[in-house]
Amino acid sequence: RVRTAVLISGRGSNMMALLAAARADDYPADIQLVISNRPEADGLRKADAAGVTAIAIDHKDFDTREAFERELDAALRAHKIDFVACAGFMRVLTEWFVSRWEGRLINIHPSLLPKYKGLHTHKRAIEAGDAEGGASVHWVATEVDGGDIIDHEAVQIEADETPESLANKVLKRELVLYPRALNKVLMGWH
Ligand code: GAR
Repeated sequence: RVRTAVLISGRGSNMMALLAAARADDYPADIQLVISNRPEADGLRKADAAGVTAIAIDHKDFDTREAFERELDAALRAHKIDFVACAGFMRVLTEWFVSRWEGRLINIHPSLLPKYKGLHTHKRAIEAGDAEGGASVHWVATEVDGGDIIDHEAVQIEADETPESLANKVLKRELVLYPRALNKVLMGWH
């Protein structure tokens, strides 16, 4: 099984869905490590309670993005990680980090990419009058939210939809989408 790390910044529901999937012996990812750039992230406590090594690397402790990323990279290498899944990880990664992990680094983004890269995706989809919202799992490339799409899930946007109601609906699908997408990517990985 592929030694995998999950990067988070907060609640960690996608991370917990990946952990749950990885409990099955035939799931191709073995989640060895969870890292949060925010020490107060709830997800760190959840991962710890689930018996996974969970560490904080606080980006505020570093002067530059790259200095933070060097620490992140060192932690991943120290744990012999081969694959990284960003799950609600809210730091933009530099070209330095992305090029080091390219092809072994994926992310989940709460929109139907290529629409709505960046923030406030649900609000933007509603304001545009879109019939559907959703989430996408994609390879991480240097353009933010710009890498090739691996898989997605769509939900209908109702007439009375709010960004919050849409976020909740999409999150339910994310919890199915992300384990499925990671499985797809790692099947046959060596
Ligand atoms: C998820 O909806 C994820 O798609 C989004 O943050 C949420 C994290 O929730 N990610 C991004 O916005 C990335 N730019 P979680 O911590 O409970 O999984």
